[in-house]
Amino acid sequence: MRSIDEQGYHFEEWLTPEQIAKDVKQVAAKISADYADKEPLFVVVLNGAFVFASDLIRALNDIRCEVTFIRVSSYWGMSSTGQLEFIVPLQQVVDGRDVIIVEDIVDSGLTIHQLKAYMRAQGATSTRVASMLFKPNKLEYDDAKPDYIGHEITDEFVVGYGLDFDGFVRNLDAIYKVQE
Ligand code: IMP
Repeated sequence: MRSIDEQGYHFEEWLTPEQIAKDVKQVAAKISADYADKEPLFVVVLNGAFVFASDLIRALNDIRCEVTFIRVSSYWGMSSTGQLEFIVPLQQVVDGRDVIIVEDIVDSGLTIHQLKAYMRAQGATSTRVASMLFKPNKLEYDDAKPDYIGHEITDEFVVGYGLDFDGFVRNLDAIYKVQE
């Protein structure tokens, strides 16, 4: 089993590239079946989801689709509803579109909760979520549970395959879990 050390923490390989490929294939098959007669717009959430999105998009069968990118930072200001700050704003019109948001990992679900509300407000016909990883124990927003999940994970911190630790190790071809 491979391992890495990053900023004083030890990580061990948890999902190999082969396991990830299986997960991606399974997600792609479901999306391909569900959207066979639609033309979905994939909205990839930067930075983390770019690796998963790249594999997922190419694993879809015979789907006519578009792909666009956003980068957001969510924060709880003084308001109880939370605010979404667009660092890279959405450049595509979502009015009347079937949107599939692509994430690397859903944790509390705040980002997805806010993005879904935003897509709805912009007139999206439907909004679903595909996430490589999902931490069900951490979920605080019920509507943020992904519709398509590569793999569920307990609460541990993971890196690689797009997921970063302070900006680094996104380039690892496997997903590594932090060790105590
Ligand atoms: P949420 O809005 O709380 O669901 O947070 C989602 C974001 O938190 C992800 O897009 C990641 O950027 C980050 N995140 C959550 N858990 C992890 C992890 O285990 N490793 C790396 N990033 C994580």
